[in-house]
Amino acid sequence: MDKLVIEGGVALRGDVHVGTAKNSVLPILAATLLTSEPCRIVDAPRLRDVNTMLRILPALGVQCERDADGSITTRVVDESISEAPYELVKTMRASVCVLGPLIGRRRRARVSFPGGCVFGPRPIDLHLKGLRALGVELDIESGYIVAHAERLRGASMYLGGAFGPTVTGTANVLMAAVLAEGVTHIHMAACEPEVQDLANFLVAMGADVRGIGTPVLEIHGVDELHGATYRPVPDRIEAGTFLAAAAITGGDVTVRSCRPEHLRAVLERLEAAGCRLEIGEDWVRCARRGRIRAADITTLPYPGFPTDLQAQFMTLLTLADGVSVVTEKVYPERFMHVAELARMRARIRKEHHIAIVEGTEFLSGAPVLASDLRASAALVMAGLVAEGETEVRRVYHIDRGYEQIEVKLAALGARIRRTEDDEGV
Ligand code: EPU
Repeated sequence: MDKLVIEGGVALRGDVHVGTAKNSVLPILAATLLTSEPCRIVDAPRLRDVNTMLRILPALGVQCERDADGSITTRVVDESISEAPYELVKTMRASVCVLGPLIGRRRRARVSFPGGCVFGPRPIDLHLKGLRALGVELDIESGYIVAHAERLRGASMYLGGAFGPTVTGTANVLMAAVLAEGVTHIHMAACEPEVQDLANFLVAMGADVRGIGTPVLEIHGVDELHGATYRPVPDRIEAGTFLAAAAITGGDVTVRSCRPEHLRAVLERLEAAGCRLEIGEDWVRCARRGRIRAADITTLPYPGFPTDLQAQFMTLLTLADGVSVVTEKVYPERFMHVAELARMRARIRKEHHIAIVEGTEFLSGAPVLASDLRASAALVMAGLVAEGETEVRRVYHIDRGYEQIEVKLAALGARIRRTEDDEGV
């Protein structure tokens, strides 16, 4: 098991490029189950979660090849299999994205129920509700979702839940509906750029999807989809993490190959925290001098502030001049980083889904444990600015969603290295 060792105190400077979005690539790879023709996903990031999907797809009869340039070519060679086993699904919740395309194309699926995760319960009732509306018969047997459908019929449905729309739920229902008979309306569809990206990939495959990027998706079923070549959108969460890292270290960083229009809420909060921004067509420059200003943050579905950047921005606010209130409205229990940040001298009080962050003058390096992907990024950010040395353990979490984060940070001047963690955990 690896750990990252960081010597804090260097202001990051320079340019950094972000990769394509993990949360686009995963459902897009699942969508390749919908055609017998080859598909090519250009510039797919080399991430643990993508590698997990590249183990699940072959188990479902899809040949996958990765080229030297990072592109992935898929081709379905066996459509008789419909089971996604527990051993693979348990390692990554996004594996549930194979449910929709399996039902859409093969009309049956047996997919291990994904279960909870470290930041609270993550139900899939809305996925199942939407699929049932299309005529799918579903049951839970021995920990598996067992689904079959003689015919899929277009339907009108409302997919909002207590915490708003669902990203992978919208993806699953969309992927089944593209091959259903007739017209489907998904009301309260997720509008995240990654859902838009999946819809655009499906259109490139010959699907008829309208209202992309709005809360009402209209899908006209077609008989068949064909292969497609597609480049997914840049990762807005990776971009936001580097911008926040520039801000917390008082540096001056230009994040390149990004889509600033996907980052509106994030850029607005960086300015509120006292950063100076310059925004180009596909780049954002973020610089900070002077003290970080306190700013309140409320996570919301897109285009609101993303929950996937909550931990990183909370870390930024630990050094602000005043008190900030961070309200988590997407995953009310996503606060695993709070206790670890406290080990580094942060002052944070948690009340249900709200964290009150009292800014402090400095953070102090410490050994800390990464609990999940975004929390790990937040701890690395804290290490970049803390006095002394920080060791972030269990970094396999960070490798799920950030490609070579230590290499990119080191190129910006950070003193960071990856070593083997011989103490084990
Ligand atoms: N929800 C339900 N019922 C459902 C599905 C979701 O009540 O059937 C609730 C969830 O409990 C949560 C809210 O709805 O409170 C939103 O959950 P959503 O379904 O949108 O999350 P997800 O699709 O499981 C994706 C990302 C997450 C990201 C969330 C929110 C992928 C593979 N994962 O998860 O990304 O946090 O949307 O934007 O796209 C990450 O990358 O670190 C990550 C966790």
